[in-house]
Amino acid sequence: MAKGSLVSEANGPALTAEGLTLGYGADPVVRDLDLEVAEGEFTVIVGPNGCGKSTLLKALGRVNAPVAGRVLLHGRDVRAQRSKAVARRMALLPQSPLAPEGITVRALAARGRFPHHTLLRQWSPRDEEAVDEALELTGMADLADTLVGSLSGGQRQRAWVAMVLAQDTGVLLLDEPTTYLDIAHQYELLELFADLHRRGRTIVAVLHDLAQAARFATRLVMMAGGRVVADGAPEDVVTAPLVAEVFGLACDVVPDPRTGTPLVIPHERS
Ligand SMILES: Nc1ncnc2c1ncn2[C@@H]1O[C@H](COP(=O)(O)OP(=O)(O)O)[C@@H](O)[C@H]1O
Ligand SMILES: [Mg+2]
Repeated sequence: MAKGSLVSEANGPALTAEGLTLGYGADPVVRDLDLEVAEGEFTVIVGPNGCGKSTLLKALGRVNAPVAGRVLLHGRDVRAQRSKAVARRMALLPQSPLAPEGITVRALAARGRFPHHTLLRQWSPRDEEAVDEALELTGMADLADTLVGSLSGGQRQRAWVAMVLAQDTGVLLLDEPTTYLDIAHQYELLELFADLHRRGRTIVAVLHDLAQAARFATRLVMMAGGRVVADGAPEDVVTAPLVAEVFGLACDVVPDPRTGTPLVIPHERS
């Protein structure tokens, strides 16, 4: 993909959350959360349903304004910048995105190029190239002219990933990107993200599957009740005591026979 966006803009962290309190009404969902994401990290956020993962990701992605605290992208408050300027450097794949009626896969992917346009610089060969590449990488090239509304759940998810990849940003925020995908397509997509990570992108993803999270993350962040309860190397975060405490699941944790990363084996109900 494009070379320009990978040049690190500062020596500091790619993303910083400072004292973030987030919510939708009276009670905050996330309380006073601090998080620093170094350039080039593949961070995976895990945690039970409703613990605030999507709320956090939307705040990091400048979609939701914090009740308190701030989010810095390469050291600058995202709320102090125009959304288009932020979108040239950071892309967000939301958990349940809604496609406009009657849009084709290619047109959806092309929307990822919008942040790169100005009054004087509209559609260009570089845009065409980025869209083609994103469709290719997500295996959607053959479905480029198909309506998004007529796709299967998994194909639709990949069409959205194509849009995010076409955006060609150094930072990717992905909220449950493997939802709806069959197991082979899940791993294919995770390998694609791992490849993008190796080529220098900073990734923050929410995943449900702890084994997948542990396999692909360089760093795991476990949340519960709107707070970070564990943060570090996958083998230090996916432990039987933490899985029991945070998910209420009694389990053994064994090394994945292929990668050595932690694998959760739930106990049967007695
Ligand atoms: N748009 C919204 N309006 C009101 N409450 C919301 C909204 N989105 C999420 N919530 C609430 O915030 C809490 C955290 O949700 P969310 O961040 O989506 O959790 P997760 O992604 O970890 O499953 C939940 O209690 C949820 O009901
Ligand atoms: Mg969520």
